Amino acid sequence: MITGRNDPCWCGSGKKYKKCHLPLDRAGHSHPGKTDSGILIKTEDQIAGIRAACRMTSELLDMVAGRLRAGITTNDIDSWVHEETIARGGVPAPLGYRGFPKSVCTTLNEGICHGIPDDTVLKEGDILNVDVTTLLNGYYGDSNRMFMIGKVSEKAQKIVRVSRECLNRGIRMVKSGNRFGDIGWAIQEHAEKNGFSVVRDYTGHGVGIEFHEPPNVCHYGKKGTGDFILPGMVFTIEPMINAGTYKCRLLSNGWTAVTRDGALSAQWEHTLRATEHGVEILTE
Ligand code: MF3
Ligand code: CO
Ligand code: CO
Repeated sequence: MITGRNDPCWCGSGKKYKKCHLPLDRAGHSHPGKTDSGILIKTEDQIAGIRAACRMTSELLDMVAGRLRAGITTNDIDSWVHEETIARGGVPAPLGYRGFPKSVCTTLNEGICHGIPDDTVLKEGDILNVDVTTLLNGYYGDSNRMFMIGKVSEKAQKIVRVSRECLNRGIRMVKSGNRFGDIGWAIQEHAEKNGFSVVRDYTGHGVGIEFHEPPNVCHYGKKGTGDFILPGMVFTIEPMINAGTYKCRLLSNGWTAVTRDGALSAQWEHTLRATEHGVEILTE
């Protein structure tokens, strides 16, 4: 007998089938493997490997946080991340990825993402995103944070805070039975309520076995749409929030996206693992 979407679940929970085991059944009980849309359900062994890569990523960001100050260059940050990753037995995943020339992304002020470290000197009032991705024993961990250099404007403080809140609200939507569209919806609501916009051209992504895996995790969208979130999925949420238009412009280096209107942008990123009951923030 086939259980209908609105029937009580076969497991005896008393919940409707669609709110309980339907999404799990669709993915073959969330057994490790690929869903119909190509999203990997990781094994516990794979998750252990990804967890270790994510822990190193988080420690590298802590290391950067402890050394940042006005007067250093973004190239300095690149050297710190490069040296320290290798010293700990990892590989900086950005280096050489699709031709990316450095070991970390450093993105300033009106930059949206994929800033390339260079001889730019950090100065008081800057807001800076540092995005670290570590490859450790074949597994990837990906996370980024905002940093404020000295005293920054009220507007800059607000976008740094609201973008962090957007990530938190996205994370709260990660539980079995919810869908990827719920994450985008929660983020977009909060950003727009605060007078900001959500970048469309870049998304979060599955991660762990590859640097970028399916699905694309949009930071805007509609509730109740998209693939179901299932235990064992590992992906990033990394909302890019702009003070003005959501539209981007690509710099001539072929990598760095900046806001088309030159207004500020901010981003935070975590790698997450969906569990039966909620979420594990692997890069916490
Ligand atoms: N870490 C970025 C992300 O969050 C990707 C950087 S790709 C690079 O997806 F080549 F620029 F490193
Ligand atoms: Co990412
Ligand atoms: Co990243």
